[in-house]
Amino acid sequence: MSKLVGRAITDSPKIQSLIKELVAEVAREEASITTTRDPQPDSIDSMKSLMDQTNKVRGRPLFYPFIGTGAGNGAYVEVADGSVKLDLINGIGVNILGHSHPRVTAASIRGALADVVMQGNLEPGMQYASLGKKIVDLASKNSRLKHCWFATCGTMANETALKLARQKNSPARFIMAMENSFAGRSTMMAEVTDNAAYRQGLPRYEEVLRIPFYDKNDPKGSSEKALARMKEHMANHPKDISCFVFEPMLGEGGFKYAPRDYWVPMLELCRANNIAIWMDEVQTFMRTGELFAFETLGIGEYADIVTIAKTLQTGATLYTEHYNPQPGLIAGTFSGSSASLAAGEEILDIITGEGYLGPQGKIAGIHKEFVGMLNRLNETTCKGQLRDAGGLGLMVAVTPLDGSKDSVTKLLFTMYKNGLIGFSAGHDPYRLRFLIPAIITSKDIELAGKIIEKSIQEHL
Ligand SMILES: Cc1ncc(COP(=O)(O)O)c(C=O)c1O
Repeated sequence: MSKLVGRAITDSPKIQSLIKELVAEVAREEASITTTRDPQPDSIDSMKSLMDQTNKVRGRPLFYPFIGTGAGNGAYVEVADGSVKLDLINGIGVNILGHSHPRVTAASIRGALADVVMQGNLEPGMQYASLGKKIVDLASKNSRLKHCWFATCGTMANETALKLARQKNSPARFIMAMENSFAGRSTMMAEVTDNAAYRQGLPRYEEVLRIPFYDKNDPKGSSEKALARMKEHMANHPKDISCFVFEPMLGEGGFKYAPRDYWVPMLELCRANNIAIWMDEVQTFMRTGELFAFETLGIGEYADIVTIAKTLQTGATLYTEHYNPQPGLIAGTFSGSSASLAAGEEILDIITGEGYLGPQGKIAGIHKEFVGMLNRLNETTCKGQLRDAGGLGLMVAVTPLDGSKDSVTKLLFTMYKNGLIGFSAGHDPYRLRFLIPAIITSKDIELAGKIIEKSIQEHL
């Protein structure tokens, strides 16, 4: 019988010491990546042919001239043209601990040394078992969530969520979802997403009923309007609404969030009518100052189903005992790679165990400093050109210039040229969106401010 029965191969002291050495060597190699750098003349031609080839394969250009070399350090990432950028978008929110975090790299290597590359639901491994247990333990602290089912991305986690809601509340068909929401790229999630451009040419299912979002300029009126709309939907479709899905903070929709008082009357109404309450935390998970945004907003008791992905390095659907489906409804080959499951667990350990969470935690500190920097620029050198900075935790957005799509897109490219990667969110106005890594330093925030200031001034 193998000596390894019941334990992982990476428990071997020899392998542990080799991993440590490997991570230290990577850190030595990347130690020089500590600030931004312009493209290097000797890499420009090779970058151009790599970009041409990649764009041809994709059938469309990349948004940014970005192909990573695989090197990065903290908040900085190296690009194949030899430049180094301050990365405040992190693959749209995946790399919450930035680049080459030594503990995350070590965990990925440990996972990668498992006997299989990918894990699934028929023959899961140690990483699957351990991560699932940890998520359920953490999620159930402030909610009734009891089960975790992995999927490989946020969209698939959402598909699972919808199936659970519909099966339990069968034959109810309709879905209540927010205006300006984003839910993913499958045919059904493109329908739940409130953006016509993302489903151009696709036939409509006409199964989604919209709820207007909170307006902070009209708290009472907008809350009443949302509740009234929900009641209207219920009256028009009696016993035919399966679920109410919402992002606790709109991601693509412009980093808008609503207080507990806006949500509670609607959640009570759903509860009284057996409509599943499904919170899409694909973008907010780990980022808002508490582990879940439902904790930040104090609405965990209402959650029947919660979906997470991105920072987890895979996707997952969490649900209560009541929403545990019948056998046969959910399966699927992949649940994630051994490396991504191991890295997801390490990231969770770091975020929950190293002082990142809570009102006095590192995430709250970063939020204050970053928003403070944007407000200072708005009041001084960028007078009035960076309005309404805000968001929650590591999700920060600001309305620049005239807030039009054209000027925000141009500004993003100028910022990119000057060494800072962000993205846009929302419309009317379009906003600059930052998904800030939790390891960002004050020096990095200062540099981000300088680049934003310079870029704004190039547009005035
Ligand atoms: C709120 C929300 N839901 C779902 C998704 C889809 O996740 P994925 O791109 O991993 O499929 C996203 C992705 O940005 C998201 O922000």
